[in-house]
Amino acid sequence: MDYDYLSLDPDDWDGFRRLAHKILDDMIDYQQNISENTSSFPTQSAFMNICSPLPEDGEGEEEAYKVFKKSILPHLLNNNIRPRFWGAVVGTGSPFGMMAELLRGGVNSNLEALNSAGLVHNQVIEWIKQMLDYPKEAGGVIVSGGSEANFTALAVARNSKARVDMKAKGMQGLPSKMTLYVGDGGHHCLERSVELLGIGNENLRWIPTDDNYRIKINKLVEAIEEDKKAGCHPFCIVGNAGTVDTGAFDDFNALAELALKENMWLHVDGAFGAWVKLSENHRHLADGMERADSIAVDLHKWMYMPYGIGCTLIKDKLSHYATFVYGHEARYLKSGFDRVKAQGDHLSNPHNLALPLSREFRSLNAYMILRAYGRRRFSRLIQKNLDQAKYLAKLIEESGDLEFTAPVISNVVCFRYNPGGLSEEALEKLNKTISQGINDVIFWMFSDTTVKGKYSLRAAVTNHRSRKSDFEYAVSLVRDLGRKAVEAMK
Ligand SMILES: Cc1ncc(COP(=O)(O)O)c(C=O)c1O
Repeated sequence: MDYDYLSLDPDDWDGFRRLAHKILDDMIDYQQNISENTSSFPTQSAFMNICSPLPEDGEGEEEAYKVFKKSILPHLLNNNIRPRFWGAVVGTGSPFGMMAELLRGGVNSNLEALNSAGLVHNQVIEWIKQMLDYPKEAGGVIVSGGSEANFTALAVARNSKARVDMKAKGMQGLPSKMTLYVGDGGHHCLERSVELLGIGNENLRWIPTDDNYRIKINKLVEAIEEDKKAGCHPFCIVGNAGTVDTGAFDDFNALAELALKENMWLHVDGAFGAWVKLSENHRHLADGMERADSIAVDLHKWMYMPYGIGCTLIKDKLSHYATFVYGHEARYLKSGFDRVKAQGDHLSNPHNLALPLSREFRSLNAYMILRAYGRRRFSRLIQKNLDQAKYLAKLIEESGDLEFTAPVISNVVCFRYNPGGLSEEALEKLNKTISQGINDVIFWMFSDTTVKGKYSLRAAVTNHRSRKSDFEYAVSLVRDLGRKAVEAMK
């Protein structure tokens, strides 16, 4: 058999072009009509269609697309891109973001360092630093999202502060336990990072927070002192810019002073909250964030970019490079890497600044989107979301049967239905019923959480498609479900 012509390129380019245009049109329609879109649990026939045996001989591009359109697309749980969605902390993407994804897939570059791709990556890092008021001298790398951004920063913090050559000895060579500290509203991905970095989750100290969900500085100082007395090595403080449950911000100036005094690394998890820096009225919440040694942000939530993109910014470029650079140069890559070095500053080469070797050209998405819409559009959208959180708070205040379970600090609102006269236990049961009712209408339109012991409904407003009327609908739905649940309890 002659394999010479075998490839994955289409035999019929014209036919392929027609299919590609159809796919594009379908997806533009999908985005355009997203508010009316509904998704359902996979039907039996969709289930059977998706879970098929691996075809020995392919069915063709057109047939594969039919499966997507008929059985996958209608049963995706992607409520998050619709206007009435404020659960968890999610991103909505955008039509132009979808097109940027197409460009990225089209060029399918594996190198983000050479030629124009390298320029794009570094330009995006420059723009992110500018938007966050982070010092110009800092470096950074584009990663897959908030979890990886935190992991990358904590790896550098650990290696840079370790009292041994961490690359050579690992945690096994340490003379004393390394400990780190975060407010009790810190995201659970920090715990995962600490586990994967070999630090051990028992060495991550969760410090109590005050009524505004800020880390208590006196408790933090006490914990550090106790650890020092016990022979541990306190090496890192993690500040929160936008805690996931309540959208709270730590006092970064106080944390920076303490970190300086104790010779500790200050890292800020600003996955979504750091972007208040772009707002007009809430930017003060992140005052002092620029003093941190590193910041983790993502761009796929409150910057509305397609999943998954995040960024780690680190002031000490050399420590960043030293943590991730390969211990020895791979012979099969040497000539390529030499060319990257010859092209410029290899401390900014993203291949030496994060886990993957092959890199998808994620920075292209951010580049295209930022170039298309500019800083001002994002600044206005973020302020709009913050104002919408206030509007939701106003609706809650005026309702008479809803109450806050945490202060509204930024774009997160925690509340519950409370018609009065019910015990804490009964309120929890009642609000769980409401949450289930919401999920039956739109899964996670509001999600739920427990803050300082109170079961709560929760909105994180990071949606560029929402309008005031969407919040009015949601509040009336909660109250309606609440009234019905109270009736049912009688
Ligand atoms: C404060 C915070 N940090 C980290 C993360 C994890 O980010 P990702 O989901 O992009 O991995 C989240 C996710 O919601 C978050 O809210």
